[in-house]
Formats: sequence, structure tokens, C-alpha cells
Amino acid sequence: MAERLTIALMKGRIEQETLQLLGKAGFDVTFMADKGRHLIFDSPDGRFRFLLVKAPDVTTYVRHGVADVGIVGKDVLMEHPSGYLEMLDLNFGLCKFSVASTKDYNPTDHKRKRIATKYPTVAREHFNRKGEDVEIISIQGSVEIAPIIGLADAIVDIVETGSTLVANGLEVYEDICRISARLIVNKAALKNKSTLLPFIRQLEGIVGNREVPFV
Ligand code: PRP
Repeated sequence: MAERLTIALMKGRIEQETLQLLGKAGFDVTFMADKGRHLIFDSPDGRFRFLLVKAPDVTTYVRHGVADVGIVGKDVLMEHPSGYLEMLDLNFGLCKFSVASTKDYNPTDHKRKRIATKYPTVAREHFNRKGEDVEIISIQGSVEIAPIIGLADAIVDIVETGSTLVANGLEVYEDICRISARLIVNKAALKNKSTLLPFIRQLEGIVGNREVPFV
């Protein structure tokens, strides 16, 4: 029986682009076309099992070795940085981390700022690097509301098209870093599963290792 690779895939935007990438690399992923509410998919040839999970859980499945491979945004990896190997920049799912706020925000004033974010580690490290002591307020989403209603002075969040910021009257004050989808692996699986490295090399041939400029 063929060795099976288990791949934890973030539900949503990256999921579609991942399936396109696998298709381009010559893998038949048509068995995932009609997903319904299913969360586990086995390929008919027995070579792949896909798990559809929430983004932060991709690293958990890979860390525990129940998934050999994970595909998830760099934003999630920056917030959950250990217990796996990052192997490949897939060069899609491009966005960036930025500091944003309302028009009256003054990034250079000397008061201790409150920063609302879904990414407390990223936010703390960013302001630490700048030597700025800030209060981090963790929230789970719709972060844009925070500076408008006075929960925070600014936010650290993902910006893709920028339309969420514009729609809420916010603007970018600083870009922190580029984000893209990444392929991670379980360390033991890399050693023990003979099909894993060839699988990664095959995908690498499609995405290349070119540096995509900061967006
Ligand atoms: C992310 C991010 C912004 C939005 C940015 O939210 O937190 O709200 O996307 O995209 P844009 O620049 O193209 O407008 P997400 O959809 O992940 O939902 P969330 O509110 O749960 O964070």
C-alpha cells in the first residue's frame, strides 16, 4: 500500500489556492471538489489525506505529528513559532502585517499606547524592536473597531486589499512584514516518510524560490 501523507490545510482562502497548486503540480485533487461539510478527505489512490482545520490549529496538528504537512499563513507561524520546520514559501495568500489607526493617531507621541490585535506576539515583538513599551489588548477579530471606539490607540492586523481599513476610516501608519502561505512539516515525518521530500520538491518546482516583493 502507498505511503500516505496527511496534510493539514487552513480552511478558507489559502485552501483554494493550495488545491490549485497541487493540481498544477500534477496531483489529482478532484476528490475535494464537492466538500460539503466534510473535514477529512482521503484521495482515492491512498496517497493523501487532507484535514481542514482552523488556521492556528494547523501548527498543532503538525507539531503533534498527526499531520505530516501543514499549509498556513506566515501570520499564524509568527504567532505560533515552534514545533515544526518551515520548508517552503508558497508565494500566495500575500498580505502584510501593519500598524493602523484613525486619522488623528500620533505614532510619535510619548504616551504608552494600547494596541489591539489578534496577534499579541507579533505586536509585542514589533514594538519591543522599536524600544517602545505598549499595552497589548488581545481580541479575536473585527479588530478595526478598537481604535474607533477607544478600546485602543492603534491596531496590529493583516492588510490584504486595504478595503477593510478604508471602510472603517482607518489608515496604515507602519508596515511590519510581508505575509504569505507557507508549507511546514513535522520533523519526524521528514525523516521517516520517503515520499515527503519528493512531494515538497515537486511543489517547489511550481512555486519556485523567487523572493516576492513586499506588498
Ligand atoms: C482579516 C484582517 C482584516 C481583513 C483585511 O480579517 O483582520 O480585517 O482580513 O483584509 P483587506 O485588507 O483585504 O480588507 P479576517 O477576514 O481574517 O477576519 P477577522 O475579523 O476574523 O480577523
